[in-house]
Amino acid sequence: MATAAVVKGLEGVVAANSGICWIDGYAGVLAYRGIDIHELAEQSTFEETTCLLWHGRLPDRTQLDEFTQKLIVARRLPSEIFDLFRSVPKSATPMEVLRTAVSALSFYDPDESAVDHDSNVRKSFALTAQLAMLVAAYDRIRKGNAVIEPDPSLSHAANFLWMLHGTKPIPAATNAFDMALILHADHELNASTFAARVIAGTMADMHSAITGAIGALKGPLHGGANEAVMKMLFEIGKSGGDPVDYVKALLAQKKKVFGFGHRVYRTEDPRATHLRKMSEQLSKESGNTKWFDMSRRIEEFVKVEKKLNANVDFYSASTYTTLGIDLDLFTPIFAVSRIAGWTAHVIEQLDDNRLIRPRAEYTGPEYPVKYVPIDHR
Ligand SMILES: CC(C)(COP(=O)(O)OP(=O)(O)OC[C@H]1O[C@@H](n2cnc3c(N)ncnc32)[C@H](O)[C@@H]1OP(=O)(O)O)[C@@H](O)C(=O)NCCC(=O)NCCS
Repeated sequence: MATAAVVKGLEGVVAANSGICWIDGYAGVLAYRGIDIHELAEQSTFEETTCLLWHGRLPDRTQLDEFTQKLIVARRLPSEIFDLFRSVPKSATPMEVLRTAVSALSFYDPDESAVDHDSNVRKSFALTAQLAMLVAAYDRIRKGNAVIEPDPSLSHAANFLWMLHGTKPIPAATNAFDMALILHADHELNASTFAARVIAGTMADMHSAITGAIGALKGPLHGGANEAVMKMLFEIGKSGGDPVDYVKALLAQKKKVFGFGHRVYRTEDPRATHLRKMSEQLSKESGNTKWFDMSRRIEEFVKVEKKLNANVDFYSASTYTTLGIDLDLFTPIFAVSRIAGWTAHVIEQLDDNRLIRPRAEYTGPEYPVKYVPIDHR
């Protein structure tokens, strides 16, 4: 059977019907369930946005209270997960630990293999609450600190910062982090979401789909880019050199500048607009604008030199650093937010499932090649 022409990297290929997220890459529009990301970033909360992604519309006050309560009740981890955290090698990165822990959580799910709608929604509450707990708890354990119990009086964003730092966050930090969670919550068929849908499409369970998604997010071309950006800023800071010279040298070696470019956007990534503002505001408030200033100079240069715009990962790096978050937690934190979108897509996929199984254009030796027994080779 003849196959269609191959589009490398599936660029522009439409692979699913979805009512969750809409992007216009030329106009720089991103909308969840039709609502512009700018309105959500400025007026919504992570809880409300997650409810919107899962259920398709904004909740009224009673529905939001109920939703928030369910998320709070779901803040529980089996004790075996803490034992797992204490047993991993010191060299394990938080992203590897997160991937392994999410997979391990399926052992303790009462209905691990169920893929019906209600089970998927229940698992979505559990995993959304748990991912934040996993990231915070592992960071505490690896640093020899006591694990902090979640505080039911705190929002998802505030509770994460509380469990991570062991101090109640100031409103400005909570608001900034909440906005970062909203901005990262979904992005149509990005690589990790597509991976989740492919896995869910086999009728495998939610934990398998999310474990696979975390694996896909880890790469520096996807979610791992925020860590790569901060590594670059730290390296420039340490050397004391000029940021533009550093980037010029990268480009001269035909290397990529992490935090720039996008498969879909041909104009500014609307999430970067908010993160730039947030990074500037937080750094001014903290009295240290070094990372923001450096980022701004790099952005201006790359925009002129390569006609590339900053993406979501570029300013999230300096934002998280200013919030006192360690570099190797940046990508796990991306997962703490993107779990909302991954689960929304798994629910949608399984509500109207068909196995996702494309074809490959064969480029190997021409058929038939004769099998040569080993003694005659
Ligand atoms: C996001 C990304 C993977 C999109 O990839 P893509 O759609 O496959 O685009 P390509 O990698 O084919 O890039 C197209 C061209 O732009 C260049 N380019 C793209 N992003 C670049 C970057 N960040 N730095 C330097 N050059 C870049 C490529 O080198 C390529 O140039 P060429 O045609 O001369 O070979 C890519 O822009 C990238 O690697 N960015 C850095 C990683 C990153 O920030 N990822 C997070 C995305 S939100």
